[in-house]
Amino acid sequence: MSPRGTDRYFAAGLETFPAAVAAAAVAARDSAFDLCVHPATGQLLADLAAALPAGARVGETGTGTGAGVAWMASTAPPDAHIVSVEIDPGRVTTARRVLEGDQRVTILEAGVEALWDHGPFDLLVLDGGPGSGKEGHEPVSPRARLRAGGRIVIDDFTPTTEWPPRFGGELDHPRLHWLTHPDLDSEEHLVAPDMAVVVGRLRPTRRDRLVRSSVP
Ligand SMILES: C[S@@+](CC[C@H](N)C(=O)[O-])C[C@H]1O[C@@H](n2cnc3c(N)ncnc32)[C@H](O)[C@@H]1O
Repeated sequence: MSPRGTDRYFAAGLETFPAAVAAAAVAARDSAFDLCVHPATGQLLADLAAALPAGARVGETGTGTGAGVAWMASTAPPDAHIVSVEIDPGRVTTARRVLEGDQRVTILEAGVEALWDHGPFDLLVLDGGPGSGKEGHEPVSPRARLRAGGRIVIDDFTPTTEWPPRFGGELDHPRLHWLTHPDLDSEEHLVAPDMAVVVGRLRPTRRDRLVRSSVP
């Protein structure tokens, strides 16, 4: 979660953002929702979505008022499918309004589990509810939820150069989990002085690496 993420859009000037992103920020402010994705994280999401293949599937947990979806929709391929789940009915209504008319986007009023029926994903953003491993929940399995070469994004880490990373003096287990996951090539992106985001790319299995030869 991004503390006061919503305010950052107004501090930066709404005109600097894609229209739907700005609309999500306005809707968030109007409904006193202050946890919009940090704009710098949003830009990273847009960069990742811009690199997606045709027909890509994108999943997000925790829609909020739709800022993250709007960032990804601003660059995703025209035939992408973007599905986001949100448990708060008011935010679902708001996000649907913000993204109305974008046929690529589906906002479900549902918990995280409902998202898995729409995967596996080329890009999966864990930004609400269980799945990220924060708050003691079981982290999702990237191998189960990603397509070959797919990426998983977990945001809202406090920047640190310490290894192993600590948070509040304790080992930062969720961050360690994602940075050292055996199925992922992971990187930590320092997107702003106060915000780090982990992006992991699914590693091919040994079976994926087998090349079939047609030589008799
Ligand atoms: C940090 S906010 C999401 C911000 C949003 N992704 C954005 O781009 O602005 C977290 C959201 O997750 C939602 N949430 C919490 N638990 C959830 C669950 N189990 N399933 C779905 N959404 C959940 C909250 O209602 C909240 O709107």
